This record gives sequence, structure tokens and C-alpha cells, in this order.
Amino acid sequence: MSTPVEPAKRVVVAAPRGYCAGVDRAVVTVEKALDLYGPPVYVRKQIVHNRHVVETLEARGAVFVDELESVPEGATVVFSAHGVSPAVHAEAAERSLKTIDATCPLVTKVHHEAKRFAADDTRILLIGHAGHEEVEGTMGEAPEHTTLVQTPDDVESLEIAEGTNLAWLSQTTLSVDETMETVDRLRKKFPLLMDPPSDDICYATQNRQLAVKQIASAGCDLMIVVGSQNSSNSVRLVEVALEAGAKASYRVDNADEIDPAWLDGVNTVGVTSGASVPDDLVQGVLHFLEERGFPGAVEERLTEETLQFALPPELRKDLRASA
Ligand code: F3S
Repeated sequence: MSTPVEPAKRVVVAAPRGYCAGVDRAVVTVEKALDLYGPPVYVRKQIVHNRHVVETLEARGAVFVDELESVPEGATVVFSAHGVSPAVHAEAAERSLKTIDATCPLVTKVHHEAKRFAADDTRILLIGHAGHEEVEGTMGEAPEHTTLVQTPDDVESLEIAEGTNLAWLSQTTLSVDETMETVDRLRKKFPLLMDPPSDDICYATQNRQLAVKQIASAGCDLMIVVGSQNSSNSVRLVEVALEAGAKASYRVDNADEIDPAWLDGVNTVGVTSGASVPDDLVQGVLHFLEERGFPGAVEERLTEETLQFALPPELRKDLRASA
């Protein structure tokens, strides 16, 4: 009698994963600001939602603060990739702070949409998570005109006066499928609802979710998502993997957080990372897996990403002047 053959253990790594154009720009902005002005350079909130990135920049002299009141008068402060409300810009001007705005241009695009709809006296139904910095920034553009909708189930309880012009916008890092469900329910309740001029969920969020779906739906016992707890797009990747058929999915900041018990009985492991995650953290996870009998990770690429954003104009100007 022949001995049963053990199925091969394999690792499939999603691509695209990790840094998006907006995160890359924001991190390089702080690095260049440190080189140009010297430490300390203040950063309002985490420049991107990744613990490792924040700690690395801190070691180089960046000082992360929650609010502008912690920044000394006249100092330089960088605004994070998630964007800020006009009230924060006004406070910075009042305190004579030198500001560098590293808001992702795709978040700025949503701010412009909010301003335009508000100027047309249209109520904005903003789909997003309460308390997220991006949502606070976008709502701050038109607080009187914006209502937050967090989940599809929130739609039922919405009360809007008849005859109100309505449009929806969204946070850039949400689950594409859940957002579409919310929009479908909104449209059933408010048939004249207007759409944003273009997708608010950004290309990087969409690509990372599609890449994970592709791997999870092809038979994946475990999906490991590298990303920090406060990273919205990383948390969404865990949910997307489970919905697409992964038997289990966990988010970790780095390989040290992997519980070896997760690998019991597992043959195929998928690996991906959120848009704020440097790839050396993913390589650490692959190394961890290799040491535990999962050799030779294979990359499955959904698409190439080539988008790049120029650095903030105020920083480019100072860089030119110092050249
Ligand atoms: Fe921008 Fe999307 Fe990245 S909004 S910061 S490109 S996740």
C-alpha cells in the first residue's frame, strides 16, 4: 500500500501590495524635510498609519503630535497623508507655523468634491468611519452639509428633508463591496442621489483588495495581512480575504506577531500588506514562513502600478532654493 502524499506547502504573495503613491510621497516628504530643515520636524498625527514607519522617522528626528497646540510657534509642521480640515490650516496660520501639506492628492480630490457639492447646496452623505482622520478632514470642508454613513445598516435610519439635493462621497480606503452595498441602499431610499464625479475609493485600495480576492478565492487556508491596527485599508484586507473564501485571516504588524499555531494543518498561505507598509516587513513574514516549512513564495500580480505624485509644492520650492 502506498503512503498518502502530503499536499505541498506553498506561499502566494499578492501584488500590488504595500506602499501606494500617496504613502510614498508622504514618507519622502518627512525625510526630505528632516534633511532640509534639520530636526525636529513636527508631524500632525501619524504621517501614515504604520507603527514601523512612524518609529523609523521618530528616530531621525520627526516629532509626532496629536494637535497643533503641541507645536512651538514658528516651527515646521507636516500634515499627514490623511488630510486636514480647513480649521487646522487656519489654526496653523494663526500660530505662524510653517506648514507642509502631505495630504494624498486623492484625498484632496475628495475634499474638492465636498466643497463643490456644498457650494451647490447639496447634502453630502459621506460613507466612512467615525473618528478616522481622513473622515474628520473631509467633513471639515463642509460640516453643515455633511452626514456620515458608516455601514449599509445606517441607511434605514437616515432622515433627510424631502426635496434636499443629495450626493454621496466616501473615504478612500473602504471595502469596495461594502461601499457599493451602502450606495445601493442609499439609491433605493433616495433615487435622485448623485454620484461623485469619479471613484473616491482610490486605485491602491481597489488593487490591493482585488489582488487578495484573487488569491483567497483560489483556495487559501490562511491569509496574513501585514499592517497596523489603525490602518483602515489593512483591516479591510482581512475582511475581504475572509469574504472571498480564505479559511482564516489575520493582521500583524510584523512577523513577531504571527502565532505559529495558525499554521497547523495549513497548506496554502496568502500574504499581502496594506498601503502604508514597507516591503521589508513582508519579507520578514516570508522568512518566518520559510523557516517553518513554507519555502519559495510565489508572487501573483494582478496589475502594475506606476502612479507617482510630486512632492508638496511648498517643499519643492525650498528644495530648489537650497540647491
Ligand atoms: Fe492616497 Fe489611496 Fe494611498 S488615498 S494615501 S493612494 S491608500
